[in-house]
Amino acid sequence: MTPQIIDFSYLVAAVLFMLGLKRLSSPATARAGNRLSMLGMAVAVIATLFKQEILSFTLILVGLAIGTAIGAVAARRVKMTSMPQMIAIFNGCGGGASALVAISEFYRVSPDFKSFMLATLLLSVIVGLVTFSGSIVAFGKLRGSISGRPMVYTGQRAVNVLLAAVVIAMAIGVQLFPAGATLFCGLILLTLLLGVLLVIPIGGADMPVVISLLNSLSGVAVSMTGFVLGNNALIIVGSLVGAAGLILTKLMCEAMNRSLSNVLFGAFGAVKGGVAAAGVAAVTTGAVKSYTVEDAATMLENARTLIITPGYGMAVAQAQHAVRELSDVLEEMGVQVRFAIHPVAGRMPGHMNVVLAEANVPYDKLFAMDDINADFAHTDVALVVGANDVVNPAAKNVPESPIYGMPILNVDQAKTVIVLKRSMRPGFAGIENDLFLRDNTMMVFGDAKETLQKVISHIKG
Ligand code: TAP
Repeated sequence: MTPQIIDFSYLVAAVLFMLGLKRLSSPATARAGNRLSMLGMAVAVIATLFKQEILSFTLILVGLAIGTAIGAVAARRVKMTSMPQMIAIFNGCGGGASALVAISEFYRVSPDFKSFMLATLLLSVIVGLVTFSGSIVAFGKLRGSISGRPMVYTGQRAVNVLLAAVVIAMAIGVQLFPAGATLFCGLILLTLLLGVLLVIPIGGADMPVVISLLNSLSGVAVSMTGFVLGNNALIIVGSLVGAAGLILTKLMCEAMNRSLSNVLFGAFGAVKGGVAAAGVAAVTTGAVKSYTVEDAATMLENARTLIITPGYGMAVAQAQHAVRELSDVLEEMGVQVRFAIHPVAGRMPGHMNVVLAEANVPYDKLFAMDDINADFAHTDVALVVGANDVVNPAAKNVPESPIYGMPILNVDQAKTVIVLKRSMRPGFAGIENDLFLRDNTMMVFGDAKETLQKVISHIKG
């Protein structure tokens, strides 16, 4: 294949990636978007295989077989609720792979570097390795192998700034004296340490934002590696990933009403007396009213309008099919049923959309927070299925609350709120929720799926 044909193939791949990304913005077109992106990746990989520099097709085939096997098993086995961990590992692999390519180029070309090439190589190593080690810590926190609490100590920020400055100074040193392999090795080790130290002070609740940011960084690393290798496909794809990850990070911060610096340096979730006390005070001022499945069924049968508000607990309970069945049964009885989707409900962007799509809930019944929030005040029943933080009125009323200012779904304004959860335990932010104590709230305790199945059989029978 001539270089022109290879570059044209890369262009086709880039267009397919962009069309794929565009389609990923709606659940209705997301599958098609994935297919287009897969096609783009296949075009890019095949075009690259025709390049002259391939040393061993056998090694590539072995790598392909191992990677495909791991990917296929993971895609089938990993639960939806564990997706954030899986994405963390993917990002880590992306950053690590970019850094490894750059490191091997360093030793291949050393010391005859062109300065632009060496600068991009060093950026690829630094960004790639920070992404790698940071993602491993993020994975550990989400999986529970490392404590999800922010690990903080005195002078932490100063240590991180100092370490970052040392890494940059070492990179300048390598740029000026490219033959210094020892300096380069030191740079690798300190950069890995920097990735770890940057992520450990961030609480588990903020990990999805961190993962999105690391995703963006892995794209930057790929792009830099593209400059090192003179590969246009890597440059374009890396830029797309970098930009998409950054936009997603911004959207998630906005949905939580937090700044990125607050997420990265705010140690959200660290034990602080004031915060814990604010939550406990809310609990002690009211009484929990526990209702039966029959009470909930009667209330739902008699409603004219219903808004179902799913949260992380629906995904944990795998209650989406029961939710869909309940919605069908009630609609047949003439109840208007809609779904309210909070942008950060669950544990990853689009979590609720994906889980509800799995149960074939029609897309036109799903409403984004801003499109439905005003309707709660005119709704008979709001059914909260395993949601907690995203319906916590403390975000509106308690200035001391860590989630104060976060936009929430106004379920508390519905005539009646039915909450399905197993206990009075808090949600991911670790704070109490006085919605559960309000006069118009009916708590129905139990696993969401089991409760819903009982409600459905009661209504049917
Ligand atoms: P959470 O506030 O985490 O609450 C989930 C609730 O589900 C828990 O209170 C839990 O109560 C209940 N639950 C768990 N298993 C259940 C089961 N089997 N049956 C019934 N209920 C069950 O969830 P949310 O309201 O979706 O809020 C998401 C949180 O994650 C927010 O704080 C958000 O800021 C944070 N976050 C999300 C993202 C993204 S992108 N989604 C990113 C960053 C942070 P019990 O244990 O009592 O059952």
